[in-house]
Order: sequence, then structure tokens, then C-alpha cells
Amino acid sequence: MPISELMSKKSQDHFNVALGNFESISQDENSWIIQCAIAKIQVQLMNSRVVRIRTIGLNRNFENHSYAVTALAEPTDYTWEDSDTSWRLITRDLTLIIEKFPLRFKLHSPDGKPLVEDDPAFGISFVGHEISCYKQLRSDEKFIGLGEKTGYLNRRGKWYEHWNTDAFAYGEEEDPLYLSTPFYMGITEGKTYGIFLDNSYKSVFNFGASNNRFSYFQVPDGELDYYMFAGESVSQIISDYSWLTGKMPIPPKWSLGYQQCRYSYYPDKEVLNVARTFREKNIPCDVIYLDIHYMDQYKVFTWNNKEFPNPAAFIQELKAMGFQVVIILDPGIKEEKGYQAYDELLEQGLFVAYPDGTPYTGDVWPGTCLFPDFTNPLSRRWWGAQFEENVRLGIEGFWNDMNAPVTWGKKIPDLIEFEFEGYGATHRKAHNVYGFQMARSSYEGAKNLMANKRPFILTRAGFSGIQRYAAVWTGDNSASDEHMLMGIRLLASMGLAGIPFTGMDVGGFVGEASPGLYTRWMQVCAFTPFYRGHTMINSRDSEPWSYGEEAEEISRNFIRLRYRLMPYLYSSFYEAAQSGIPIVRSLAIDYTYDEEVYHRNWSNQFMFGPSILVAAINSWQPIQKVYLPSGDWYELFNDKFHAGSNTLLIETPAEVIPVFVKAGAIFPALAEAGSHVNDQSNVLCLHVYAGNGEHHYLLYDDDGKSFDYENGAFLKRTLSHFADTRTIVLARKEGSHLSSWTRIRVYVHGTESAVVHSNDAALTIKRDKHRFIEPISNFDPFFVSSSFPFEQPNLLSAEFDWSDNEITLRY
Ligand code: GLC
Repeated sequence: MPISELMSKKSQDHFNVALGNFESISQDENSWIIQCAIAKIQVQLMNSRVVRIRTIGLNRNFENHSYAVTALAEPTDYTWEDSDTSWRLITRDLTLIIEKFPLRFKLHSPDGKPLVEDDPAFGISFVGHEISCYKQLRSDEKFIGLGEKTGYLNRRGKWYEHWNTDAFAYGEEEDPLYLSTPFYMGITEGKTYGIFLDNSYKSVFNFGASNNRFSYFQVPDGELDYYMFAGESVSQIISDYSWLTGKMPIPPKWSLGYQQCRYSYYPDKEVLNVARTFREKNIPCDVIYLDIHYMDQYKVFTWNNKEFPNPAAFIQELKAMGFQVVIILDPGIKEEKGYQAYDELLEQGLFVAYPDGTPYTGDVWPGTCLFPDFTNPLSRRWWGAQFEENVRLGIEGFWNDMNAPVTWGKKIPDLIEFEFEGYGATHRKAHNVYGFQMARSSYEGAKNLMANKRPFILTRAGFSGIQRYAAVWTGDNSASDEHMLMGIRLLASMGLAGIPFTGMDVGGFVGEASPGLYTRWMQVCAFTPFYRGHTMINSRDSEPWSYGEEAEEISRNFIRLRYRLMPYLYSSFYEAAQSGIPIVRSLAIDYTYDEEVYHRNWSNQFMFGPSILVAAINSWQPIQKVYLPSGDWYELFNDKFHAGSNTLLIETPAEVIPVFVKAGAIFPALAEAGSHVNDQSNVLCLHVYAGNGEHHYLLYDDDGKSFDYENGAFLKRTLSHFADTRTIVLARKEGSHLSSWTRIRVYVHGTESAVVHSNDAALTIKRDKHRFIEPISNFDPFFVSSSFPFEQPNLLSAEFDWSDNEITLRY
């Protein structure tokens, strides 16, 4: 039966009705409005690789506000072809075919291959206000991304919902968790495309979980506003998505150091004691956290004067030791007359309210609370102004929690209203952006008060675009192997969804880790962007020295390794801030068309920046199967060579996890780890690995704390390795930031060559030993192995003074 007949037989409110034939079309620059019997559709060309398609019922209006999208459509060359049956919108990088009878969309690559096409029968369909978009499922199609979602790399056969949730001790398959990013990529027949659904309602994504016919995404209400990305690679699509929803600002360098947290350290003496122990034990650490007990009865923007009688002196004492203090902030404002924040919020009407104007209240830590309406610019400004005292005390980091928002034991009713930038919205639409806008208020408020210093904001909840304001951690995980490994998959998946600054509670929040598990967790998270140990109230101590001597030594080793890798890590953050390419990189980014990387066995492996591959492994596993993608590889700890496109068994005594470096790579590291990021060695080591081809690496540095880099106060230097001709070129330095390194030491791995030649005469060349980690002195033979080779013996090394000029070396 034709659709038109169907429509007349079935009520649109109860049955599925797909878009029918086009009736009219109008154009305004790079945007076309097409009308059919039931809906208006806008097609907008954003740039040559990104096209937007919006659909709304005929009797409704397009909405003109998005929290997620910050980019405007760019002027783009295109051609528009009109035939009897279809239109074709053609750019350099894509072809969008719009069929007229009925209206259906097909995205093709420039060479005419289908990337993603509507299901011919259902395309875009309505059931009442619910709108879905059905895409044909291709037999080889894989789906990756979607951010903080449990499961494996390839999401085919699964479905997901977006609704930010307080997912305490979440299960391995649980959905949804805390944060929503409705963006995924499809991979089919050697091509990739991306889809971002800009709708904050409780949307659903189905990747062939119902049949082999279609995938779909669905919104219960509002506009079906989605973007299709036709970039030629996963990294191009992530970049385009990051262009659309915004980039992470370069964070303060201290927030890349190791961070110690617990729920909660108090009183002040206990905090100081933890800090001193790090220094005494020579374990680098940059940050100590204050969880909810620093406040007076958990009231945000207050201090508990009994436990912290002199916060100013206490914070200064920590700063003198090289520590930053991050404090937790929960959005709930306790309902209590005389509590300044409550009085102000109430008086100024900046709270989330019932439709009759009375404040919505719900219970969180402090008891019954009101909630600031972060979708109201005035509430955001008010929230930001509350930071004044804490900023004056010297606090530069703010941890935004419970911002789903969480109210215990009570469902927030749908009718609750939010300002939504003047457009108005109910809880159904505002819920998923609440935490996002809280993080924004915190970032903007702190930045405004911090006089050219970079604030650090951490958040649990968020939505697409959150990367503009905050780092994200994966909430209340449990102390189990499964959670540690799942955490790695969550971070890789968030990286695919444009969030580069992510981490998990090392050691597990809920429950208690064994020494072996804690150690593995510390090891793998040394390679994750946000590196913080945390644990729940009343659990065992969970600092690096709390699990026995072996665990302490191994943790020290890996924290120190992290600090030695700081120039590499910081340069990777810079890259992420420029292009959105994450720091924890799913293997699907660099090896998209290698079928093997989608195998579950390898889903806990990732690239840490461009050159280092890490495999997360179970606590109990003494030997591990690893997959190395194409190219050749060296083991980081002992330079053992392995050919790529290969699986191998690798010995994994407790001291190490499998870490590999790409042959040919060149990467920077420090000669020594200091006690915190600003206590760094002035010898910059460049590690070069023999191999083939050309390898370029951008070294980035700046003062690590101000925004002066925006005005040229940075240091950039391209490090190149022309492996075939055994030539290393350190390009001339760019930018006005003076190098804090005074010496450069080059280590060449994997070569028998005996000499280094250079254009600089003052060069010391030797055969040297090198270690990335120290052997364990205090080992228990059941816990660690005495025989694991840690040393890279007989390396070629050359050392010389830092010079801003170009330097060439041959080996
Ligand atoms: C939430 C947070 C956790 C924090 C606790 C107390 O459970 O996820 O990290 O320690 O609240 O503030």
C-alpha cells in the first residue's frame, strides 16, 4: 500500500509514518528547506565534509539553540543538481542524494560509494512526537564511539539510551551511565562516516540490535537534528566533530600529574600527612582532593571550620610542597535559611522550578536541596561568583559531582522547568545538559576570577561539548579486574566521541582491590590522561604505599614513568586541543580497516598518543596475548623487537604491563622524574627507534599555567626521523616560550650503528644503558619476577646543549 494511503488509514499519533513525497523546496545560501505532508526538513551544508539534516513536524518550529554545537556553517563550494527523482548536493568530499518520492537521504563518498543510506521504507519516521531515522544496515558494517557506554569497541548488535544517571557500581553491560555524547561512526567497505544527533532528550541508538535490516537513532520529542560526517578517516571525522562541538582548552600542566583522592581526607592534618608521605617516599604527586567532608554539613561554598580551621594556611602549606588542592562541588544547595547560597538563590529566583514557580527540591548529601538552573545565564554567573573565596584561598581545581543531577530516591518529575537560555524546557530536554552547564558555570566562573591562570574542572555528567570545559571521570567504578578493563574501553570510547581528557578511579571506588589489582591499575592508568587514585568512605587505605612494599615500588615506578613521559603527554594534550584527536586512542583510529582490532580480545589495547601501544591486563595474568597492528614494534621496557600484524604471547610479571613503541617513532621524555610537574629535569631525552619511512612528531611546551600561549608564548618544534636514511632533524624552535630544557640527549634504539654525526660539534656520544623503570628491590618471588629484563643495554646516545636552531643528526 502506498504511504499516502497508509497515512489516511492510520492515525499519525499511534503508528509509524515515514516522510512522504516532497511538496516544496526553498533555498537560502547553503541551506534548503524541504516540505512534505507531515514535516519540514532543513538540509544545511556545514563544510565540505559535514552536512546537517533537521526534521520537525509541520505544526512545529525549528529550534534555534544548541548547547553542543559551537561552529557555524562555513562558506563551501558545492553543486546542486536537480533531476525528476532526486537532488544531489555535491562537494569535494561528499555527495548527498535526496530522493524526492518519498523523501530519503543517501550519503555517498566522492567516488560514488554509499556511506550511509536511509532505509527505503522507513527513512525518517514519526510516531506521534517521536522521530526516528532508520539507516540501512550493511552486512560488514561496524559501529564505534558513543562515548561513555559499556561494551566493546564494535557496538553492532547493541542498543543504547542517553540519560545521565547516577550509576553507582555499574554493571559491565549497564546503560546508561553518567554522560551522554550521541555521536558514533560507522565503518563499512573500507569507508567511514559519522553521525551526531543534536538532541538532549532521552535518545535511543540501535545498531542492529533488532534485526539485520536497519540501525536507527530516535528522539522522543523535539527536533531530529543530526549531522553526517564524510571525512575520509576516523581521525578526520573526530576532528570534524570536535570542530562542530568545540575543543578542549589546554589544561594546566599540574592536572596531568598523579592525583590522590579519597572520600574523604580530613581533618587538615590527615591531608598534610598524605601529602608529606608522597614527598618522603619519593612518589611524584601534584594534587590532593578534598571530598565532601571539607564542607560544613556538605553545604557547597562553605568550609568545615572544625576540621579545617585555617584553610588559607593549610592550602599554602600544600602549595609550598608543590601540591594543588581540588575541592568537590555538588550542585544541590541546602534548604536552610541563613545559609548564604540558599538565601541568594531563592531571593534571585535562580533555581530549577515547578511550573507554578515554586522551587523544585530533592535530597542529596546536605539533605533537602534546591538546584541552581545552570541553563539560565544569570544562575551560571551567580554560581561562578561563589568561587571567589576559594579562588582567593589558592584553589585552582573544582570537581563537579552529582550533576546528572542526582536526587536520592526521588524521580525528578518531567514537568520541572528550566530557563534553557530563554527558550524554556522541561526536565525531559534539560536533564542531559544539566551537568554540562554546571561544568561550564564552574569553568567560566573560575577562569574569570583566576587572573590568566587555567582552571581545572572535573565533571561526572555531561553532554556533547563537555570537552570545552572539563575533564571527565567514569564515576563510581568497583574494585575488580572487569571494572579496570571496562574503564579502559570507556576512556577509548570517550576519546572517539571528542572527549580527550578522561580517567577513572584508580584502584576502584567501590570495594577493595587486592595488591595485585591495585598495582595493575596504577600501571595502566599511568597512560591515561586523568590519573587519580580514589576510593569510597570506610574502605581500606588506598594510597600507593597502602598495599605493601612491592605494590609501592611498582606504583612509584609507573608514576615516575608518567612524569618522565610528561613532554610526550603534554604534546599529546596540545594535539588534542588542536584537533580533538584523543590521548587514549582506540586502535580503530589508526588501524580502522584492520578487522582484527575489532576482536574483543584486543579491546583493552590502546594507543597512548601517536607512538605507544598499551595493553591493559588482568591482575592475575602472568602471560598475555597481545595483538600488534601493522608496522614493527619494540617493547618499551627492554627494546625487544616484534613484527606487526601479529599476535604474540608476552610475559607480564607484576612489575610491568605490555607497552610497545612503533618502529621508526621519535618521542620526547625526561631524563628524571621530579616530585611534581614543575620540578622537572632539564635534560630532554629524545627516543628514536630504528625502522622505515618518515616520522614527524610535534613537541609542544609552554608555561603550563597561563593563557599566554594564546599570544605566542609557546614552544613548538617538529622532531623528524627519516628512518631509511637514519637521519634525525630537530627543526628550529617556534614561539616565544623559552625552553626549560638546557640539554638534549638522543637515544637511538634498535641499531648497531656506532657513531652519531651532527651539524653540532659539541656532541658527546656514547654507548649507554637506559631504563624506563627501575628493578624492584624488595621483591617477593611470588609477586614479581627477578628475571624480567628491564634494561636497554648498549644504546647509542648523544648529548648536547639545547639550541633553538635546526639540528641534524645521522647515525
Ligand atoms: C559520588 C562520587 C564520588 C565521591 C562521592 C562523595 O559518589 O562519584 O567520587 O567520592 O560522591 O562525594
